[in-house]
Amino acid sequence: QNDEAKAVVFSVPSYACQRRTTLDNHNTILTDALSLLAEKAELSEEDGRGVAFRRAAAVLKCLPQPVTNMMQLRGLPCLGEHSFRVIKDILENGTSSEVESTQQSERYKALKVLTGIFGVGAKTADRWIRAGIHNLRQLQTSGQTLNQAQRAGLQHYDDLNLPVTKAEADAIGEIVEEAVVSVLPDAQITLIGGFRRGKLTGHDVDLLITHPDEGKEVGLMPKVVSWLQSKGFLLYQKTTINSYLESEEGPRRPSSNMDRFERCFSIFKLQKKVEAAQPETQAENGIQHHKSGCRLWRAVRVDLVVSPISQFAFALLGWTGSKLFERELRRWAGHEKAMSLGSHALYDNRQSRYLRATSEEEIFAHLGLEYIPPSERNA
Ligand code: GTP
Ligand code: MN
Ligand code: MN
Repeated sequence: QNDEAKAVVFSVPSYACQRRTTLDNHNTILTDALSLLAEKAELSEEDGRGVAFRRAAAVLKCLPQPVTNMMQLRGLPCLGEHSFRVIKDILENGTSSEVESTQQSERYKALKVLTGIFGVGAKTADRWIRAGIHNLRQLQTSGQTLNQAQRAGLQHYDDLNLPVTKAEADAIGEIVEEAVVSVLPDAQITLIGGFRRGKLTGHDVDLLITHPDEGKEVGLMPKVVSWLQSKGFLLYQKTTINSYLESEEGPRRPSSNMDRFERCFSIFKLQKKVEAAQPETQAENGIQHHKSGCRLWRAVRVDLVVSPISQFAFALLGWTGSKLFERELRRWAGHEKAMSLGSHALYDNRQSRYLRATSEEEIFAHLGLEYIPPSERNA
């Protein structure tokens, strides 16, 4: 057939960690649709279905050109019947009826609004919706008790749903660097998460802190947090202390996804860069006002993690993402290599021992994978 002869056929390995996925996505219409269905599944706590859509979207993200013909999908991995149907719908009609009806559904809209509150997950949102709460106004007048994170999330809702720019991430990085170095000179900080993969915006700023001398980093997080708090940089913070060292004696298999580093989930108060043409005005009553109610700061979600230097490469790899890339690395390790990969360590089940690494390159080598740099982990 003529169509078939013209169709470019792609060849793609089946694990996302075997592929190079840059931010240059040639199939955004298709991947946006599949990502929305993945999100709908995750919000409905259908995680298996969510992962299936994420995997399908990831396959399309790494293709060198747009898909124009269903024939081109032959032989591609991870595309199930459902994903096929969605893609076919879009290629034939320009839009997916399932995506359209999801976007219009009251339940989906409510889930999006409510889980858009920091500290609110799918379970809580579902409980609220069953209590008739579909938006922020209804939540505020409902008398539902909110925990501290959710109260902060609600208070800074608009700011936290505004993308964080790279410039803002760098500004936060400098503040955290000042804090860290003032309580522990020679400590090092690295921008991780989406910004390390080259994204221009993100939903938060992720920073990894370590020190070249093993052990020097212990207890660092509370000191950094106190410093930040004393300077008025924190609108909210929740610090969790490392329990990895305190856990039972002897080596233990790292439980795949559980995190035992010193961590801090926070909301920063970031001073905005003052634009030259916006002088402060002095009102008659002596209180300083700013033109047209524009605030001089914004709230930004920041995740801080402290790692001992011996685990730094694993933490770096584990926190750079993307989430699907990480998931696929762990699946590859387990299914193809009989190894357990976590953000602390890599355990070889056949040799019954941990494999050391001081760089991400070494971890990929242990896993028998070609090295994929951060900018190509955007699966
Ligand atoms: P945006 O922030 O939305 O721009 O994307 P991102 O890729 O930076 O996502 P996010 O900040 O949610 O996560 C960054 C990385 O940290 C991802 O690879 C996650 O898998 C990882 N991560 C997030 N939370 C945890 C956690 O609790 N434990 C571990 N080990 N990793 C986590
Ligand atoms: Mn992030
Ligand atoms: Mn994060």
